[in-house]
Amino acid sequence: MNLNIEMQKLKELAREAADIIEKYEHVRVISHNDADGLTSAGIICQALLRQDIRYHTSIVPRLDKSVVDMVKETTADDDLVIFCDMGSGQSDIISEIKQEIVVLDHHVPVGESPAKVLVNPHIVGIDGAMHISGSGVTFFVSMEMEPANIDLAGLAIAGAVGDKQIFSTLNGHILEEAVNAEVVSIKKGLKIGDGDIAKVLEYTPEPYLDITGDSEKIAQFLDFLGIEGKIEDLNPDQTKALTSAVALKLAKNASPEAVDAAIGDIYILNNEIVSNVYDLVAILNTCGKAEKYGMGLSICLKDKTHLEEARDMAISHQISIVENIKKGMDMVKEGKSIGYLIGTDMESTGMIASTFVRYVNPDMPFVAVNQVDDLVKVSARGTRALVGKGLDLSFALREAAKLVGGEGGGHNVASGASIPPGTAEQFIAKVDEIVAEQLPKQEKAE
Ligand code: C5P
Ligand code: C5P
Ligand code: ZN
Repeated sequence: MNLNIEMQKLKELAREAADIIEKYEHVRVISHNDADGLTSAGIICQALLRQDIRYHTSIVPRLDKSVVDMVKETTADDDLVIFCDMGSGQSDIISEIKQEIVVLDHHVPVGESPAKVLVNPHIVGIDGAMHISGSGVTFFVSMEMEPANIDLAGLAIAGAVGDKQIFSTLNGHILEEAVNAEVVSIKKGLKIGDGDIAKVLEYTPEPYLDITGDSEKIAQFLDFLGIEGKIEDLNPDQTKALTSAVALKLAKNASPEAVDAAIGDIYILNNEIVSNVYDLVAILNTCGKAEKYGMGLSICLKDKTHLEEARDMAISHQISIVENIKKGMDMVKEGKSIGYLIGTDMESTGMIASTFVRYVNPDMPFVAVNQVDDLVKVSARGTRALVGKGLDLSFALREAAKLVGGEGGGHNVASGASIPPGTAEQFIAKVDEIVAEQLPKQEKAE
């Protein structure tokens, strides 16, 4: 990969998108309901407003026909439609929209895009699953609109952290620019939110440790290390003792991703109203799940009105994620090539699947299936090592979902699907078969 050439090509696409956007007085923005989608919306909304372009933004959990119907009903003929963090995989669905479309996304493109411009790392040869998020792509476009938008880089960094990406290549470039402009600072330590160390370790689902969710074990662990108080006030020696002790806990089973996710550079967002990136990501993911889209977007727009409420909600949400992961531990089954569970009324299937593959068994991708009323939602997660061996969960879930009358997609390392009730077993069998073909030599370590 020649990053300079590829990044230049992406910047050219971003320039084309900026040229189109700047012709409009009003824009219809549609973005995704997770941290990456909300930060993407936060970036584009601020960039638009700074150019006196008005916008109407909607945040949605997935891009399906109902979203296209909503766009058709609520968009004036002479408006531009911008999709952020979605739109590349749904070319057929969005082609029903008659207004001009710009897609700012990092999912694998499927089919002929009806968009006037599709700004997407995959079409310039960069893997969008790991190297740039929807918010990173949107940030590139905002920088083409106005270089002063560099102050929005913190949101791009938060989006990439939310999508569990790596900070080399394109994300590394955004980070370097953000640090140079003093928009982001870096400190070393345990990659978790701010606050009382015992409490934060108790409710934080990542890193997932053998003490997570257990206040007594956490008290013993911290006593042994002689550490108490707020994590942000720990001195360098205490931070070192804490990170070494966590590294030791991870040494046994965890994947390299888990170690990366636990220890290392912590990004401090100097221009955002929530400065610890892990806190901001947790708050935004919570707002998305709770359908408090206005709350999430307003926090990205630096409005403190609902911040305390959102912080409290994020803590409760993380507590429930930890409970769900623990519940899931007892329900795990193994196919020939995947670990999986089929549950009902469980939340956070994405975090459950991610925890299993990162912390419990990194040799097998994990698929979590959850039935709520008449909807069955699936999340699948792998590791970079498995992707290196040929794993493509996006393909596997799309094909298996098609077989049972559902739909799915996403990234090679992380993908999702919706399938009809009653089809979970058949769906899992098909995913297992496809993944076994993708990872032919995958055999259990003796
Ligand atoms: O909507 P989007 O495609 O950007 O979401 C990607 C999802 O995949 C996020 O929920 C992110 O946390 C998850 N992910 C993961 N493990 C990875 C990469 C992404 O769980 N290695
Ligand atoms: O829902 P979940 O977080 O597991 O989604 C993981 C990835 O799969 C995201 O990139 C999401 O956009 C994608 N996805 C999809 N089609 C679905 C469900 C999820 O493309 N039906
Ligand atoms: Zn994303």
